[in-house]
Amino acid sequence: MQVALVDLDTNTGEKLSAELNAKYGSDRTAFIKCNVTKEAELEHAFSHTFKLFGRLDIVANNAGIAREPDWQLVIDINLTAVVAGSRLAITYMSAPHGNGGVIINTASMGGLIPMPYAPVYAATKAAVIQYSRSLGQAHENIRVNAICPSFTDTALVAEGKTMLPTVFGEVVAATGPLLSPELIATSMIAIVEDDSKNAAVMRVTNARGVDYQSYDGFLNKSTPLTPKL
Ligand SMILES: NC(=O)c1ccc[n+]([C@@H]2O[C@H](COP(=O)([O-])OP(=O)(O)OC[C@H]3O[C@@H](n4cnc5c(N)ncnc54)[C@H](O)[C@@H]3O)[C@@H](O)[C@H]2O)c1
Repeated sequence: MQVALVDLDTNTGEKLSAELNAKYGSDRTAFIKCNVTKEAELEHAFSHTFKLFGRLDIVANNAGIAREPDWQLVIDINLTAVVAGSRLAITYMSAPHGNGGVIINTASMGGLIPMPYAPVYAATKAAVIQYSRSLGQAHENIRVNAICPSFTDTALVAEGKTMLPTVFGEVVAATGPLLSPELIATSMIAIVEDDSKNAAVMRVTNARGVDYQSYDGFLNKSTPLTPKL
């Protein structure tokens, strides 16, 4: 497998790519600098990946921020870029470039339960869940799933703790210790590898471990009259 690491942060991205290539082989990863809110940069990230590796099988739309005062940017990164990235993924996974693939979109437990201290963030994540569920039912050979982690030990939470120390103290006390990024990564790989999972919403929490959101009854079915995209 070869992996394009796409991010705004050049220092971390290049360092990680060098580390992975030293461990797994010289051409296994490539870092591509990209601001996902810039259409041309996102398109270049996809075209360059395809040029480097000759195919595109898996796309993870994972970039996200939780800086509520920058609410427009929260929407641009957490939702608009996920839609743009998914559409580009479908282009490169469909003929004449490819014949299928898997998209995993990072949502959040904040898309399933209210976050009074971050309502815009919560709204973007709820939208990513519903977008992924709908898109997953729109294509025959492309699976689309969403993952909903609870609070995880990353820079995003560190920033949140600095901005809202009391809130985060209470929230973490209520939800348990921060999850490890490794747990989220292995859970993401599991849903990508499981061919039976499409339009599924994986939850990763202290309370229930790794499980799936249930949508019993008609809510889980697409409208019969809806044409395939
Ligand atoms: N940490 C948590 O508790 C938690 C819980 C649920 C969901 N999530 C989601 O997980 C995803 C990853 O976040 P994280 O927790 O690892 O935080 P993080 O801050 O460590 O990672 C976010 C990454 O997104 C990149 N990024 C930000 N803006 C970008 C842009 N405009 N273009 C390209 N890249 C950009 C950052 O450089 C960074 O590498 C996000 O979608 C986040 O909402 C996080």
